[in-house]
Amino acid sequence: MIQRVAVIGAGIMGSEIAQACAAGGKDVVLFDTIPAALEKGTAHVGKICERRVARGRMTQEEADAIVARVRPTGADEDLANVELAIEAVPEIMDIKKSVFDRLEKNLPAGAVMASNTSGLSISEMAAVTSRPGSVVGLHFFNPASVMKLVEVVKGKTTDSATVEAMVEFASSLGKNPVRVQECAGFLVNRALVRAMVEAYRAARESGADPAAVDAAVVAGGPSPMGPFALGDMIGLDTMSHLQKDLRAAYDERYDDGGALAEQVDAGRLGAKTGAGFYEGPAPKGEPDDAGRRVADRYYQSMLDEVRRSIDEGIAAEKDVDPAICDGCGWSEGPLAWAASRRTTSAG
Ligand SMILES: NC(=O)c1ccc[n+]([C@@H]2O[C@H](COP(=O)([O-])OP(=O)(O)OC[C@H]3O[C@@H](n4cnc5c(N)ncnc54)[C@H](O)[C@@H]3O)[C@@H](O)[C@H]2O)c1
Repeated sequence: MIQRVAVIGAGIMGSEIAQACAAGGKDVVLFDTIPAALEKGTAHVGKICERRVARGRMTQEEADAIVARVRPTGADEDLANVELAIEAVPEIMDIKKSVFDRLEKNLPAGAVMASNTSGLSISEMAAVTSRPGSVVGLHFFNPASVMKLVEVVKGKTTDSATVEAMVEFASSLGKNPVRVQECAGFLVNRALVRAMVEAYRAARESGADPAAVDAAVVAGGPSPMGPFALGDMIGLDTMSHLQKDLRAAYDERYDDGGALAEQVDAGRLGAKTGAGFYEGPAPKGEPDDAGRRVADRYYQSMLDEVRRSIDEGIAAEKDVDPAICDGCGWSEGPLAWAASRRTTSAG
């Protein structure tokens, strides 16, 4: 069982992943090239633990032990002894490649090199190393200290043994890993973004009110939040990048009718700028007929995309519902939900 881990990049995801690993009993080297980022990331690990102590979810002793297991560093020598490195540097291929080159030079033979990329090619990163079989995607969700889902992504050259080692590793942190084949968006972002952009396009076409759509989505199925409120929370710039990447990788089913670009061009990026689809926090709307029609398209496109993923061998059917529940907070997976609706309408 893997015990010694390096997390490369101490930003939002890296510091959360470091906390998750240390909470799972691992010894963690938290590596960053910028001292101030390292300091901030290390402090964030402490803050997550403090919050848990304050809420009675962890003892002070446990918190202290977790913090003590995370060792901040900017020195290559500290990578010499790790069994697994997880990179969480910015989502730019050239930076990822330079990190894999550094890992190649500094990790011991046999160590696994993992990327937390949200969608860049694992195979392309693997190609800069002399051990592509040991390069794998380990996609945590934000906040990684809380979210249970980890997509274990098999690139074209990843060995099955590496995938299985990562499934075992993620489970040892108390996470719920799902095995996914490499594709744009992997499983969860691919399906969720499809449903969201479908709703944006449909609402634009029909003139449906976003608040009525969000209310109809929440009232009409297992999603805890509607697509407009969720987009504002994620950030419409991030959503726009995802939409463009998926539109390029797949087809017009990822067209949003221009809804995201319109917001981004107006500087309305959602919660982070104070306004997005909504002027402020999402209002409490009431479902209406137009909203219900868009909500139906939202759920149907999620269902269509997970079925395509299953047909393409991206994920096993049995893993789809747990992945959507853990990754998107749905109270029931799309396949089970659709099956229960069929039963209800047949009955
Ligand atoms: N933020 C999210 O919601 C989210 C969710 C899932 C996955 N991801 C993925 O996680 C990765 C990191 O995203 P983030 O939001 O944490 O980014 P971030 O900008 O918050 O953090 C990146 C960190 O990497 C450091 N860094 C930059 N170059 C480096 C190098 N060469 N070596 C070591 N450290 C370096 C920076 O100093 C910074 O601390 C990306 O691939 C992103 O797509 C992000």
